[in-house]
Amino acid sequence: MTSMTIGIRGGELVEPGGRRHAELLISEGRIVDVGEGVGEGADLVLDASGCLVASGLVDLHTHMREPGREDAETVHTAALGAARGGFTTVCAMPNTTPAIDSPSLVRDILRLAESVPCRVLPVGAITKGRAGRELAPMGEMAELGVTMFTDDGTGVADNALMRRAMEYASGLGVTLAQHCEDPALAGGGAMHEGEWSARLGIPGQPAEAEELMVMRDIALSRLTGARIHFQHLSTAGSVDMVRRARRAGVAVTAEATTHHFTLTHAECRTFDPVFKVHPPLRTSEDVAAVRAGLADGTIDAIATDHAPHTPETKDLPFDQAPPGMLGLETALALALTELDLPVERVFDLMSWTPARIAGLAGHDGSLRVGAPADICVVDPGQSWTVSGRAMASRSRNTPYEGRTLTGRVRHTVYAGRAVVVDGGDGP
Ligand code: DOR
Repeated sequence: MTSMTIGIRGGELVEPGGRRHAELLISEGRIVDVGEGVGEGADLVLDASGCLVASGLVDLHTHMREPGREDAETVHTAALGAARGGFTTVCAMPNTTPAIDSPSLVRDILRLAESVPCRVLPVGAITKGRAGRELAPMGEMAELGVTMFTDDGTGVADNALMRRAMEYASGLGVTLAQHCEDPALAGGGAMHEGEWSARLGIPGQPAEAEELMVMRDIALSRLTGARIHFQHLSTAGSVDMVRRARRAGVAVTAEATTHHFTLTHAECRTFDPVFKVHPPLRTSEDVAAVRAGLADGTIDAIATDHAPHTPETKDLPFDQAPPGMLGLETALALALTELDLPVERVFDLMSWTPARIAGLAGHDGSLRVGAPADICVVDPGQSWTVSGRAMASRSRNTPYEGRTLTGRVRHTVYAGRAVVVDGGDGP
């Protein structure tokens, strides 16, 4: 870590309280001055003219693939992509090989994360090996600072085990996150069950496979008082249940991915496995419901579910290919391009609220003196064309290849260090 000072000049600060033109001066990992002209004379001056300056983005859902699938991604390459996408913190999903289900695996991830350009929060598995049979030692992982647990990739299907997990988590003060998919009803379906699966002859999984688990977990949260965070909600029915549960005071939060508000199951007509993802791409009515949930506060956060797969594993027939798509480098631009929301709401969904859900202290969106210097500087007017090859990821599976998006990260500062400068990887 360097102790050089950084000035961010010419941009508009976006904070929960509103927007204003001001400069930032950063030193030793913190904002040390805010105001007119304070960035002048810094060791490194970052030009933010025409840009929005906000707290760094926080992704609640990143697959870093390490350990086990370093051919698809590593903690280092995922962190590079995260930084380019404006993220300063990512939550590393535990569906690695082996799964992150013990303190030693948590320590491994923390060690790998020491020298990468983004904060990595290891997320622990709820059950040993993510097998859904026996609870993992969540208490021991929590002692190392783990605040969130999930069996992501699958949901915890056993009702009684999920109840016990909630009671345990609630005592520890940690959050359980759920990949809602009833395995029996999903039945191995490779896409959304509906008009397109019938036409294409690809086995589908119904919206109800997700909704049954959302419904059950709302009931269990009511029973136990435990907090539950719903991952990648994708159906109108799920959004509606979460809306009603929140109104009734149940302790639920929810995220939606960029692909679930930008793509529908009609994309699968090409049989291109790049569009295979779990939960699957849904109908345009579901997309509209997810967008409405993002707009009215039912959905708290936009997550990427960044899920790299090598070309060798992904380029298989649709029903055999693994599910998942890249997301870190396109997320902010998609939110700015596709959602008709004020930029304050976009940063709330991508930074301020996910930070709270992840238990990230001090990251409340305010760019005040003393705040951590995790900063994202984005040019909201700059257009660019998505290219998987140009990404930092070891994989190429972006479903947005060739698409023109508006909104480009110009600089990212992580822990007081300029990790992206003028769109390129920092020193
Ligand atoms: O599409 C998905 N890919 N959904 C998941 O839940 C897991 C992820 C992965 O790990 O590839």
